[in-house]
Amino acid sequence: MKVLISGVNGLIGNEIAKEFFGKASLTVGTGRGPQRCRSLDRYSQLDLLEKSKIKIVLHEINPDIIIHAGAISQIDVCEENRDIAYRANVEATEEIASWCSDRDKKLIFFSLDFVYAGKSFSYDEQDYQSPVNYYGYTKMLAEKRIQSDLEKFAIIRPVLVYGIKETAERENIFSWLTRDLKESKTVKIVYDQWRKPTYVGDVASATASIVFGNLTGSYNICGPQEYSVFGFAREIATLLDTPLANVQPVSGKELNQSGERPPITGFSCVRAKRDFDYNPQPLSNVITQVLDC
Ligand SMILES: NC(=O)c1ccc[n+]([C@@H]2O[C@H](COP(=O)([O-])OP(=O)(O)OC[C@H]3O[C@@H](n4cnc5c(N)ncnc54)[C@H](OP(=O)(O)O)[C@@H]3O)[C@@H](O)[C@H]2O)c1
Repeated sequence: MKVLISGVNGLIGNEIAKEFFGKASLTVGTGRGPQRCRSLDRYSQLDLLEKSKIKIVLHEINPDIIIHAGAISQIDVCEENRDIAYRANVEATEEIASWCSDRDKKLIFFSLDFVYAGKSFSYDEQDYQSPVNYYGYTKMLAEKRIQSDLEKFAIIRPVLVYGIKETAERENIFSWLTRDLKESKTVKIVYDQWRKPTYVGDVASATASIVFGNLTGSYNICGPQEYSVFGFAREIATLLDTPLANVQPVSGKELNQSGERPPITGFSCVRAKRDFDYNPQPLSNVITQVLDC
C-alpha cells in the first residue's frame, strides 16, 4: 500500500509518517517547504494554495490512499486571512477529494472538534455542526464536500493534540509548556476553556487502525481526561515537579484573540472504541515517556 501524507512536516503528519514508515510499502509525504520529517521514503513539495499543481503531484505519486493532514491550523490566522484559509482548507481538500473520486482512492481527512459549537464533552459523530470560528467553518465545509463526493473516506476529528516536539514540527501546547516550566518561566493559561486533550501518538495509532482495518466514516477521538486548559497546564507542572505558581490563570477574553474559542469540547469516542478498541493514554503516561527520553 502506497500512502501519501500531506502536511507531513506538522505535528500530526510527522507522527503518522513515523507510524506508517516501514508498515506501508511506500510512505510519501508532501509539505509546503523543504522536508523536515525524516520518516519517509519520498517527499514532494506541494503548496496547497497552488491549486493547479495538486492533481499533477498526486498523479505523479499515484498513492493508494491519501491521509490529508495539511491545513492552516492556527485559529487566528484563519480568522484574519479568510481567503487564504478557504483556499488551503476547503479548495485544496476539494481538489484532493476530486482526484480520489475519479480514481476510486480512499481519503482520510483531518477535521476537528471545532466543527461543533463547543457546549459538551461528549459530542458524537452525528451531532449538529455549528462552528464558532472560521477555522472550524472551513473544516465543516471540507467535510461536507468529502461526504457528498466520496464513498471511500474517513474523517478523523481529534481534540487539542499535544506531543513531544521533534525537529520536524512547530510548537504545541505541551512542547512550549514543558520547556517554559523547566526554564522556570511564568506562563498564562486560559481557565475558561475546557477540552479533552489528545496525545499525538494516539492520533497516529487511531489513523493506522482506520487505514489497516479498512474502516470508513467519521471518528471523533480525544484523550481520556477532561481539563480546563489551565488545569491541563497545572497537571503538567505537577507531573514535572515544577512550581504551580508559575502557571497563572487568564480568561479567554483577556487574551484578546481574533478567533472565538468554543468553551467546551470533547468526545465519548464510542464509535472508535467499538470499531478499533481505541484506548487513549492519560497525560501521566505521556509525561513518563517524556521523562524517560
Ligand atoms: N493540533 C491540533 O490540536 C489539532 C486538533 C484537531 C485537528 N487537527 C487537524 O489535524 C491536521 C494536522 O494538524 P497539526 O496539528 O499537525 O497542524 P500543523 O502542525 O500546523 O501541521 C499542518 C501542516 O500543514 C502545512 N501547511 C499549512 N499551509 C500549507 C500550505 N499552504 N501548503 C502546504 N502545506 C501547508 C504546514 O506547513 P508548515 O509546517 O510549513 O507551516 C504544517 O506542516 C490539520 O488538518 C488540523 O486542522 C489538529
